[in-house]
Amino acid sequence: MAQTRVLPRELHVPEEKIGKPALHPGSSDFIVVSNRLPVDRTSTEDSDAGWRRSPGGLVTALAPVMATRDGAWVGWHGAADGELEPFHHEGMDLIPVPLSADEVELYYEGFSNASLWPLYHDVIAPPEFHRTWWDAYRTVNRRFAAAAAGAAAPNATVWVQDYQLQLVPRYLRQLRPDLRIGFFNHIPFPPPEIFAQLPWRREIISGLLEADLIGFQRPSDSANFLRSARRFVGAGVKAAQVQIKDLDGKVVHISRAAPFPISIDVAKIQELAVRPDVIARSKQIREDLGNPETILLGVDRLDYTKGITHRLKAYGELLTDGAITVEDAALIQVASPSRERVESYRLLRDEVDGMVGRINGQFDTTSNTAIRYLHHSYPVEEMVALYLASDVMLVTSLRDGMNLVAKEYVAARGNNTGALVLSEFTGAADQLKSALLVNPHDIDGLKTAIMRAVRLSPGESSRRMRAMRRQVLAHDVQRWSEEFLSTLAMEAEPQ
Ligand code: G6P
Repeated sequence: MAQTRVLPRELHVPEEKIGKPALHPGSSDFIVVSNRLPVDRTSTEDSDAGWRRSPGGLVTALAPVMATRDGAWVGWHGAADGELEPFHHEGMDLIPVPLSADEVELYYEGFSNASLWPLYHDVIAPPEFHRTWWDAYRTVNRRFAAAAAGAAAPNATVWVQDYQLQLVPRYLRQLRPDLRIGFFNHIPFPPPEIFAQLPWRREIISGLLEADLIGFQRPSDSANFLRSARRFVGAGVKAAQVQIKDLDGKVVHISRAAPFPISIDVAKIQELAVRPDVIARSKQIREDLGNPETILLGVDRLDYTKGITHRLKAYGELLTDGAITVEDAALIQVASPSRERVESYRLLRDEVDGMVGRINGQFDTTSNTAIRYLHHSYPVEEMVALYLASDVMLVTSLRDGMNLVAKEYVAARGNNTGALVLSEFTGAADQLKSALLVNPHDIDGLKTAIMRAVRLSPGESSRRMRAMRRQVLAHDVQRWSEEFLSTLAMEAEPQ
């Protein structure tokens, strides 16, 4: 039976403290709120600022919804201390939320990426908890909520994205009880035994519960969330529904938690995979590496959740064992720079640099390299050329909400060749069951899987790739957003 839930006092925010409302007139029927706006600056000079749509699948999926529903996107533009007016870009209204340099440090690098990120990823790195970080997180979440509240038309739908903004549903509900609010968590949600460490666990759960629909990547993530809702705020949970009652026991709000595994822009990847210049570039990549028999590929943000050191350890041992030689095989490891001012990311970079240096120092010859290590980000055209150039894709995350790289590799392999080694700790493993699944902590198991992938017969490779392609091609990011938004539309009518 549902129980009475008492809201933590500090969540009742007086309106004057919520912050400056957005300048926008409140005419948008559909609003997306995410930490980052879906655009990147093409110029560093403020006076000459140009913008380019960011490559991610989320914006591809939502841009058409924006266009048909008078949509707006609320987010940070990625630089400290800059106040920007709302602007229009490629059919989308963008509403920038400013962050001061201190807030970037405390809210973004601190609470989001040194408290929540490691906590939600199985404490692979130890999370740090600081009250000053939490205060900044609340302040910034209020600001995002105020911007969305100011832009939303009556009864509009607002879709809040990811762990940086978990208090936004609550603040938004206080400002605008008429709105229909969805939330999607792109990263894992930890089991209550780990979530329990968070000093503000009740506030986070209560913040999320004000959404009408809370989406997660895997069924285990939504189950973890529901267990925490029951345990830490005494919420009444029936199947996937959470009832929120006032002090008199009257149901004032119903929230639902469910899995909606995200996907990629399949059409875009497929289109690039057959473009002559991309195919030519993929051949060039193979040639530049000396046309080895096998090219293996890893593509990750340089993040400790990705298991890059485990992968390098396994690969180094295969070279030592003589199972692989630099004449026959090359590993391309793309590690795009990420969160470089956060300590654990700095430490990881030193570790990866050191490992690659040692392996290459030992095994490289004047004409061959063991690991081609690229600490850069690349445009999607180059990524697809890399997917086409590679016989084996290595995804060895220790914990990963989804892992879209695995799905992109599959979408690019139109001729059904290639092998995917995939960590069972990714959300993608739920859908790509025909990958060579591995536990990346088991280095011997990882070595065996890599060798199996290298030696996979054309028949088996094609059978596995076909099965994975069927799944990915039928579930693109468009379908993901439609399923989430249609479920949200069916939730209880706004009060
Ligand atoms: C993950 C998160 C996103 C985040 C991205 C890049 O995919 O789920 O919310 O935007 O990493 O991280 P960054 O800190 O650069 O935004």
